[in-house]
Amino acid sequence: MTFDIWADNDFRLAAFPANIPDHSINEIAKKLEKAIDDPDMSPFVAVDAESGKVIAYSLWKYTPERSHEQWIKERDERVNSWPGAKLDLLIPMFTEEAARREKVMGSQRWWELDTLAVHPDSQRQGVGKSMMKWGQEEMEKRNLQSVIVATPRGSGLYTQFGYKEIDSWGCDLRPYGGPGIYTNTLFVKFPKDPQIHA
Ligand SMILES: CC(C)(COP(=O)(O)OP(=O)(O)OC[C@H]1O[C@@H](n2cnc3c(N)ncnc32)[C@H](O)[C@@H]1OP(=O)(O)O)[C@@H](O)C(=O)NCCC(=O)NCCS
Repeated sequence: MTFDIWADNDFRLAAFPANIPDHSINEIAKKLEKAIDDPDMSPFVAVDAESGKVIAYSLWKYTPERSHEQWIKERDERVNSWPGAKLDLLIPMFTEEAARREKVMGSQRWWELDTLAVHPDSQRQGVGKSMMKWGQEEMEKRNLQSVIVATPRGSGLYTQFGYKEIDSWGCDLRPYGGPGIYTNTLFVKFPKDPQIHA
């Protein structure tokens, strides 16, 4: 049903051993399927009309209110959902992310882009941009504040839609065979912020 979003992501290649791709695809498929019946989740799958193949998928969600304990629980569940991963790399990254998200999001509800992936064969053709547009229209219509945790690849796209960088964190992948420092970025946008995409 889906394809592997992280196939060429440096962090994923360093942190997750070779058997992880199947697990990753199954996790994404399960997540999108579960989201169909959840009123706070908006999953999308883009299918090529000719081949019938999935070329992109995205998941927007309206996050629940969270106490500090719930942030910690969510972080631990996330770490535990990747059996076999290199935990000395995974735990600090997920811990940094959870702490920064909690600092910015607190116990409020946010409109969050959980997942956006365009198949490598269909990238750089405007598919990501068009999948972003629905989320932005919904955000304005419902007057929501929005947050995105971005990979290095996604950052340029979110900036084009008026998202502002709030924080970033990273790790050195070289001891794990990776190319260097890998950085994730936390972006936010408020309903009245201008959209600046072309
Ligand atoms: C990031 C991603 C969703 C972009 O999708 P896309 O369909 O290729 O994007 P678009 O063609 O609509 O391009 C929109 C903008 O994204 C940015 N972008 C897209 N691909 C990029 C790349 N390889 N490197 C740097 N910036 C890129 C550019 O700013 C681009 O605007 P431009 O073409 O005017 O320069 C896609 O590359 C992808 O799925 N990557 C792997 C998974 C991932 O990292 N997802 C983001 C999670 S936060």
